[in-house]
Parts: sequence; C-alpha cells; structure tokens
Amino acid sequence: MNDDRLVVVITGANRGIGKAITRQLLLQNDKPLIVYLTARNVDRGQKAFDELRREQLRNASDIKMQNELRFHQLDVSNHESIHAFIAYLTLMHGEFSIDVLINNAGGVVKKLQDMCNADTAYQTVHMNYFTAVSMTTLALPHMREHGRVIFMVTALAHLGIFCGDLPRVLTSDDLSLNGLNIIENGFISSVGKGTYAGYGFPPMPFNVAKAGLIAYARILARSTIDDSRGLLFAAVCPGYVKTDMTGAFAPLTPDQGAETPVYIALTDNKRLRRHNGGLWKRLKPIKW
Ligand SMILES: NC(=O)c1ccc[n+]([C@@H]2O[C@H](COP(=O)([O-])OP(=O)(O)OC[C@H]3O[C@@H](n4cnc5c(N)ncnc54)[C@H](OP(=O)(O)O)[C@@H]3O)[C@@H](O)[C@H]2O)c1
Repeated sequence: MNDDRLVVVITGANRGIGKAITRQLLLQNDKPLIVYLTARNVDRGQKAFDELRREQLRNASDIKMQNELRFHQLDVSNHESIHAFIAYLTLMHGEFSIDVLINNAGGVVKKLQDMCNADTAYQTVHMNYFTAVSMTTLALPHMREHGRVIFMVTALAHLGIFCGDLPRVLTSDDLSLNGLNIIENGFISSVGKGTYAGYGFPPMPFNVAKAGLIAYARILARSTIDDSRGLLFAAVCPGYVKTDMTGAFAPLTPDQGAETPVYIALTDNKRLRRHNGGLWKRLKPIKW
C-alpha cells in the first residue's frame, strides 16, 4: 500500500518539550504524519505513548485521526540502540524512511549554577552534542527528499560567550565536523586542566555543547548543498521552558517551547530554505 504520510522522529519524547512537540504534531491537521515518540526507557516511553494516544482519541475527528503515533525505544547515547531503530525504520518505510528528525534529547547533568568541572563538562557535552551528532550521522543517509533535521539548542549559546579566535573558527565556512569535534573535545580536556579560559571557552558546558550543535547545523547545510534531496537543517531555541530540566521559575510552558520546532517540522520548504542551517527562536530566524 502506498503510504504518503510524512515520518517524523522525536528523540527524548517521553517528557518535557519533546513530549509537547509529539502531542502538537499528533493533534495538528495540516499534514498527515506518522509520529515516532522515542525514549531511552521503555516504561517511561510507553507511559507517554499511552497518555498521548488517549488524548488523540479524546480529540478524535476524521482529520485528526489521519496521524498515527508509534513508540520505539531509542537511547541516543548508545550506537546499538540507534542502529536498531534505523534498521526498524528501514524495514517499515524503506531505505529512505525519515522526513523529519527532531534531536530533542538532552539536558543538564547538574543544576546550571553548579558550573564547570571535568566530569560535568564531559557528561554535558556528550549528552547534548555527541549524541545528536551520532544520531544525525546515522540517520542522514535515510532522510527522504526535502527531509529536515532540527536540533534543540539555546540562544544563550551565542557567539558572545566565546573569546579569542573561537567565534571566527565556529562560524568559518572551512569548519568541518571533525574540526568541530576537536573543539568540543578540546573544551572537555581544557576544563580538566583548568585552561579553558585561555582557549576562549566560557565555564558553561551546556552552552558550549549547544553552540556545537548550532555550528553543526551550519556545517550540514553547507556540506549537503549538492545533495539532490534538498535537505534542511535548523537549530531551535525553545525559550526558557518549565520542565524537569529547569524547574518552577521558567516562564514558558512545554507547549510554548514546542511551537518553533513544530513550525520548522511542518512549514513549506520554500519559506525555510533561505535560512538553511540557521538558528531560530519564536518562529523566526535569529542571529547567532
Ligand atoms: N527547558 C528549557 O528551558 C530549554 C532551553 C533550551 C534548550 N532546551 C533543550 O530542549 C530539549 C528538551 O528539554 P526539556 O526541558 O524538555 O528537558 P527534560 O524535561 O529534562 O527532558 C529531556 C528528555 O531527554 C531525554 N534524554 C536524555 N538523554 C537521553 C538519551 N541518551 N536518549 C534518549 N533520550 C534521552 C530524557 O529522557 P529520560 O526521561 O529517560 O531522562 C527526557 O525525555 C533538550 O535538548 C534541552 O537541552 C531546553
């Protein structure tokens, strides 16, 4: 049977902004979708799946039911788990199986004010940067025509937090993924040695990791320019959102935080293409 529904994958979708993105995609009427809610923990993922499925049934109309929710285990820090999920998608939807990948999984290791030591730097950069790079690298060959990849970042990871040569290097058209990985690993090791400031890094592992993803979106847009599939990449700041990551003082709801990634996932290609690889906040491209 020919199924022309778009396949959307959300990582870390069992709670917080990822769950809100999944809910909004499931309940929208613009485009028929198959929405993959993925989570590293099967029980937590299944619980979120059941909850959203009940919500979809409560809101049921013929149009809304055109969207289908599916659950699959996915731990983005585990290569075997990523491979297993991609193999499953390929089996279900063919070699080119993904229309939209939303790299949402991430977070902070400790409270942000606990700041910077070697262990926090290692864990935070791996949890936010290297996991999304692994997921995207393995998913990229399976993206469909006009496929898009979204990275959840923060506008607080702006270039002004870096000193010396780093802003120039991070925005250089010559920067490769390999070079970017060296920068992120360099941050981790320089925190261990206490020399990070001398290299121009701030003592902020979360922001350094997210800046890496902003740079990565730019690299991907540049390096796939001749790819006939016309792929799109976007780094998205959700704003300061009340979730387990932030706590009670954040002003936005997860649904508000989900608005821009959902917009990028669904908006017509032509409106986004001009800003391929760019940084977005509140439905608009912003300066890095
Ligand atoms: N909240 C904000 O104000 C804010 C601001 C800027 C950027 N962001 C970014 O937006 C994204 C969502 O944030 P949030 O506030 O919704 O965070 P959250 O409530 O802490 O949720 C994080 C989600 O990521 C999942 N996760 C973490 N590591 C994972 C892994 N290895 N594999 C699969 N899933 C994993 C968690 O799963 P478990 O339940 O299993 O732990 C959870 O579902 C994150 O990337 C965050 O950095 C958030």
